[in-house]
Amino acid sequence: MTQPSRRTASRPHVTCHMLGSVDGRIVQKIWALKDSARYFEETAEKIKVDAWIVGRTTMQEFSSKRQRPRTGTFEVPPGDFVAKKSKTYAVAIDPSGKCRWDSDMVSTEHVIEVLTEQVPAEYLHHLRAKGVSYIFGGKTELDLALVLRKLGELFGMRRVRLDGGGHMNGTFLKAGLVDELSLVLAPLADGTIGTPSVFDVEEGYGRRKATHFHLRSVRRFEKDFLWMRYEVTSSRSPSASAKTPRK
Ligand SMILES: NC(=O)c1ccc[n+]([C@@H]2O[C@H](COP(=O)([O-])OP(=O)(O)OC[C@H]3O[C@@H](n4cnc5c(N)ncnc54)[C@H](OP(=O)(O)O)[C@@H]3O)[C@@H](O)[C@H]2O)c1
Repeated sequence: MTQPSRRTASRPHVTCHMLGSVDGRIVQKIWALKDSARYFEETAEKIKVDAWIVGRTTMQEFSSKRQRPRTGTFEVPPGDFVAKKSKTYAVAIDPSGKCRWDSDMVSTEHVIEVLTEQVPAEYLHHLRAKGVSYIFGGKTELDLALVLRKLGELFGMRRVRLDGGGHMNGTFLKAGLVDELSLVLAPLADGTIGTPSVFDVEEGYGRRKATHFHLRSVRRFEKDFLWMRYEVTSSRSPSASAKTPRK
């Protein structure tokens, strides 16, 4: 038995947007596409959302590359921290607090870190000093349904876009929290075994069933690319939990 994605009024609508090869891979290292970011960005910006959300590995491509000293004693007030309200947001799923920041913005989006309560006070102090907002999504594991609810309640988000990578997409899919898939299919096969794919949920076959989609639209562009928009019709095995284990 599978269940439809659990969309309730209390959480934002979730669209997962990805650029994938025909074999579902997402790391572009050997793709040799000219101006490759364009295929992702130009389609992404047609999906009107209040925030894009990425996993920690993907966000580290945008966060600070500088190392900082971590010594000293730090005291920070308990609870979530809303540094400011913005029109749009960039959200990092970063349970251990590994992304460092030079500013509170990625392009035009205000940064929100999604953390577990295990992150050290020094890291919270760093975020406050840089004006980066943060929310807690659980004590030691992230409850993604809670995370979405908080993004709605604290920042007024109604629609969000999951922009990868495969690990993060997979955990939202497993938790039954993806409403739509927007997939740009690049006309190439990558073939690299063991690299991230559009959804990396778990290894092997357990009780989990595949997620099914209904095709809402398909558009051919740039000659050989396809942009497909799907609605999730079923997801989540009966055993799947909204709480996802930390890696
Ligand atoms: N083609 C595309 O459209 C596209 C889009 C985005 C990214 N990418 C590529 O994808 C690659 C990265 O993908 P990836 O799958 O390796 O990494 P990812 O999904 O970006 O990040 C994975 C990490 O995020 C944290 N995380 C995510 N969801 C979590 C959850 N529910 N609970 C706890 N922690 C969670 C964990 O951080 P910790 O390890 O710190 O615990 C985890 O290891 C990059 O090469 C990037 O360029 C491609």
